[in-house]
Amino acid sequence: MAQQRTKIKELLVSGTTGQSYTIKGWVRTKRESKNVVFFALNDGSVLQNIQVVADPAKTPEEVLRKISTGAALSVSGELVESQGKGQSVELVAQEIELLGEADPEKYPLQPKKHSLEFLREIAHLRMRTSTFSAIFRIRHAMTFAVHKFFNDKGFVNLHTPIITGSDAEGAGEMFRVTALDLDNLPRTEDGKIDYKEDFFEKETNLTVSGQLEGELGAMALGEIYTFGPTFRAENSNTSRHLAEFWMIEPEMAFVELEGNMDLAEEMLKYLIRYALENCKEDLDFLAARAAEEDKNKPQAERSEMGLLERLQFILENNFERVSYTEAIDILKDSKPNKKKKFNYLIEEWGADLQSEHERYLVEKHFKKPVILYNYPAAIKAFYMRRNEDGKTVRAMDILFPGIGEMVGGSQREERYEVLKERAAEMGIHEEDIWWYLETRKFGTAPHSGFGLGFERLMLFVTGMTNIRDVIPFPRFPGNAEF
Ligand code: 4AD
Ligand code: MG
Repeated sequence: MAQQRTKIKELLVSGTTGQSYTIKGWVRTKRESKNVVFFALNDGSVLQNIQVVADPAKTPEEVLRKISTGAALSVSGELVESQGKGQSVELVAQEIELLGEADPEKYPLQPKKHSLEFLREIAHLRMRTSTFSAIFRIRHAMTFAVHKFFNDKGFVNLHTPIITGSDAEGAGEMFRVTALDLDNLPRTEDGKIDYKEDFFEKETNLTVSGQLEGELGAMALGEIYTFGPTFRAENSNTSRHLAEFWMIEPEMAFVELEGNMDLAEEMLKYLIRYALENCKEDLDFLAARAAEEDKNKPQAERSEMGLLERLQFILENNFERVSYTEAIDILKDSKPNKKKKFNYLIEEWGADLQSEHERYLVEKHFKKPVILYNYPAAIKAFYMRRNEDGKTVRAMDILFPGIGEMVGGSQREERYEVLKERAAEMGIHEEDIWWYLETRKFGTAPHSGFGLGFERLMLFVTGMTNIRDVIPFPRFPGNAEF
């Protein structure tokens, strides 16, 4: 009987030379001469490949020929100290079984540098590259760390619905969910689509945020968090936006804006520290990769710090807490504003901040993460708590260098009358959120929460520059392949 499979990670960490093992994986590269064949096998468990040494005389000709980049193999053999450079151990093959061949004429991933754009088109295979396997191992570690962080603090993970009847952000950027026959839509008497005939007997869509339901959880369980997919039909074809992304949304009863900022800062530092401590090899690889990319950029666009330094820097510095009003003053007086370099010039209080402004504050002015708070009510969602000045709400956004907005959150409006009025002002129908309003009627209390865009965090941690490269199968305008 064949030996049990050993993962390459385990083999490299705790394999004993002189013993025999069976490994399974995909060929990365192959070199051959008359007397010996070398190939590198990778099984995704770890960044490194293991070098396999095979004797052509002892390997069937058919198998030998089909050992090519991308082929899946099972190899049994003895682990020995390596003679060659670049690895400490290698496997001397006793038996090679070809599990699946990969025609070298057709296999799209060759052992050479491919562009990220090209790899995006072959997302079904790109995880077999060192770069993408590193990214997705880190993504896993970050997911685990999110749950660990909240679990250790006693937060309850609440699964909020993906199909909803409400628009939490009120931005109208939703994907519809329907089971109606689109070629034969039922109509009401006045010619509108009759959603009463639809599956849920009402209009429904994919959620843009789990927050509203999360608040219901917090008003019973105290502290909850959601970590799920969210969907936005905003037509932003940028390197920071996805139509389907994952959001982490904690919600805390009895906590005001400042406590909310504290939690967000603590969480971000925890996650980054977790990556540094647990994903060292993958991060080193991505740091080297980012440094290489940087060399090809014009001087002015190069990063001042390497990836690992940037991560370390976050741990060592407090986030700058700045009110929206202070930020507007800084921006008004800034060089790019005076020299009309911004695409959107900051002229007066109340202006919505564009990413160019956010990046100026973070990258040029403060040179560290910034928490902007107390935004004008007019540019924020209906649920944010109004301040005594009547103009601003207790909102906070966390801005990161190279990324822009990483986190958006607020203290919530807990006063029934004020909330009802705000919702009406923003055109939100009471019958869609009656349940949300009721929490303000029955045992209301101050509470706060925020949303962290998981892929934005992944961008920062991996040093990648396009959000489409940190989620396995990105959805964006014009693309829902795979
Ligand atoms: O600022 P946003 O819209 O806030 C909310 O949805 C609140 N309900 C969160 C809360 O208070 N519970 O989104 C939160 C974060 C943003 O800061 C950003 O990191 C990310 O989600 N995000 C996106 N990430 C990728 N693609 C998009 N299209 C994103 N839109 C927002
Ligand atoms: Mg936001």
